Amino acid sequence: MKRRTLKTTVPTHTVLEGGGFPVRRPAAMGSLMSPFLLLDEMGPVHWDPYSAIGAPDHPHRGFETVTYMLQGAMQHRDSAGNKGDLNPGDVQWMTAGRGIIHSELPQDEFYKTGGTTHGFQIWVNLPAKDKMMAPRYQDIPAKDIPSVRSEDGGVWANVIAGETMGVKAVIDTVIPITYLHIKMDHGSSHLQTIKSGLNGMIYVFGGTVHLEGRAVQDGQLALMTDGDEVLLEARDGDAEFLILAGPELGEPIARYGPFVMNTREEIHQAVMDYQNGTLA
Ligand code: CO
Repeated sequence: MKRRTLKTTVPTHTVLEGGGFPVRRPAAMGSLMSPFLLLDEMGPVHWDPYSAIGAPDHPHRGFETVTYMLQGAMQHRDSAGNKGDLNPGDVQWMTAGRGIIHSELPQDEFYKTGGTTHGFQIWVNLPAKDKMMAPRYQDIPAKDIPSVRSEDGGVWANVIAGETMGVKAVIDTVIPITYLHIKMDHGSSHLQTIKSGLNGMIYVFGGTVHLEGRAVQDGQLALMTDGDEVLLEARDGDAEFLILAGPELGEPIARYGPFVMNTREEIHQAVMDYQNGTLA
């Protein structure tokens, strides 16, 4: 077994998304972290009553959006007539495929009372052959997301995609994806298998975690070298982070706002389809 080591760390910037929603976003994305196109940590942000905002109707084509809530409550609606709430611990894995138009807004009751919103939205690219697949939703409530604790109790994981400590995710992914939410108590360690050939990375959003002896801090994305497994240790206190892994797609990326295709012609077609009302 070959150990993965730290290749590089990428800092995050705080940007305002969707009309003023603060997100932390690693500064260099795209081809560096294939197949992930975007990693947004939404908040944590506190909203006064009647002030929370979200993203009104907008289209997507050619990839997947994965929303994982930690705090707060969002509501989504889409052009296919789907509607649902996202509460803490819930995951929505939306495969936009050939096209979807949706809104992601604060849930009504949450909008009235205000409160804290915290969560993640990650964009997962689709290979060329799957970009125009039929859209699909996997809305998984928190109670159905498998979680696991290590034998010594020091490591907890929520298994959104992939597998850890013998527990497999329930979400079906188009390409092989690992998406784990890990909490480690001070002094604990965790050895994670990540199949050789896949790109592996961690995003830390609480404390510091040591990746094969190298410190990765709150707000940093750490890209790993290739290998079969990675050793993670909470040497300096408790730590909380995501582990993400997936294949290098190795295909050209043509991107325009909410459309991610392979060529400019395909982007042009997506814009035309949206304007003609035939995207979704
Ligand atoms: Co969206």
